[in-house]
Amino acid sequence: MSYQNYQTKYSNQFPAIKDLSIKAKKRIPHVAWEYLESGTGDEALLEHNRTAFHRIQFTPRFCKGHLEADISTKLFGRAYSCPIGMAPVGLTGLIWPEAELILAKAANRLQVPFSLSTVATETPERVGKIVGEQGWFQLYPPKDLDLTYALLDRAKQSGFHTLVITADVPMASRRERTRRAGMQMPPKITARLLWDGIKHPIWSYYTLRRGMPRLRIVEDYAEQTDFKFVSGFVGNRLGGTLDWDYCKTLKDYWGGPVIIKGIMHPNDAKKAIEVGLDAIWISNHGGRQFNGAPASIEALPDIANIVNKRVPIIFDSGVRTGLDVMRALYLGADFVMLGRPFLYGVAALGNYGPDHVIHIFTDDLKNNMIQLGVSSVKELKALDK
Ligand code: FNR
Repeated sequence: MSYQNYQTKYSNQFPAIKDLSIKAKKRIPHVAWEYLESGTGDEALLEHNRTAFHRIQFTPRFCKGHLEADISTKLFGRAYSCPIGMAPVGLTGLIWPEAELILAKAANRLQVPFSLSTVATETPERVGKIVGEQGWFQLYPPKDLDLTYALLDRAKQSGFHTLVITADVPMASRRERTRRAGMQMPPKITARLLWDGIKHPIWSYYTLRRGMPRLRIVEDYAEQTDFKFVSGFVGNRLGGTLDWDYCKTLKDYWGGPVIIKGIMHPNDAKKAIEVGLDAIWISNHGGRQFNGAPASIEALPDIANIVNKRVPIIFDSGVRTGLDVMRALYLGADFVMLGRPFLYGVAALGNYGPDHVIHIFTDDLKNNMIQLGVSSVKELKALDK
């Protein structure tokens, strides 16, 4: 079936991201679902990331004749079909076998960015071949600078042109739900997983064909050091040492755009610009790191104010509709990234999943722009605050 036919078929069956998440939950083992869904602590921030969007309202204006919404955009001189992209998600192969390959291929087709995580289950070389011009590489900065350089060289040689430094994991966070679900790192075949696998035969079939997901980059890294690959490795050996000098070193070495991800305070945004970074990515890691933080949409206005258009602002956490994207753009974001929604799409609909996620978001974004009475992102951003 062609992608156009899929779109027609699924538009009524899965009109919203919620519909995809319901289907995804049924198709993957409990432990994989809990890993994908969980926040940190009692998960109040997970909920708050969503509800905070509802407070941002617009008063629509009418009688503007025929309107068409143009959502194409540019970032660092590159053209993207819409201001929406794929945020880095680690251990993706546990959620759906070969999810990274499916996502990278779709990003290339859809002309949207795909970010490959340091804790990916595929290698940069394999993903780089299929992601085309859409590859961003996300770094949990290793403590050893030599290994950092080697990793950056590997990413660059594989075709990734934009570097994302994740700042908001000073140490591994407490994820109570994943603990209850018996999550292990690296994932192991346990009696519990076997039983779960029997109940999810499609996931199990693909996983058996491919083997249990492995953290390819981390394994290579472990081979070169005395680093022990145990639970809580991110934030203990990867991350946990990041400071502004390290950021500057990364910027000097990379030789392309460098984005810092996880910024929530205006003064951190200011500092990032001072050390020469190219964009600020506002995020609370989808509620997975610090349960005491504000919703990222609440952090956006003050950061946009201090950044004052000097560098682009990228935004994520809790975005589930095109209207949410419109709210973030209106408040000063230039690009909006999605974590969980693309994985819901892949787990629910396989290869067609990412296309359907983009379809839901862009259709809703364009529709809401016209309901409001604007026909471009520029016009939207220029509305009175
Ligand atoms: C993440 N996120 C993340 N971020 C990062 O910089 N490196 C990573 O490896 C991961 N891994 C990861 C795994 C899973 C399962 C999730 C859900 C998230 C955070 C991610 O990039 C993004 O900031 C959030 O997912 C955005 O929130 P939403 O869109 O999921 O609500």
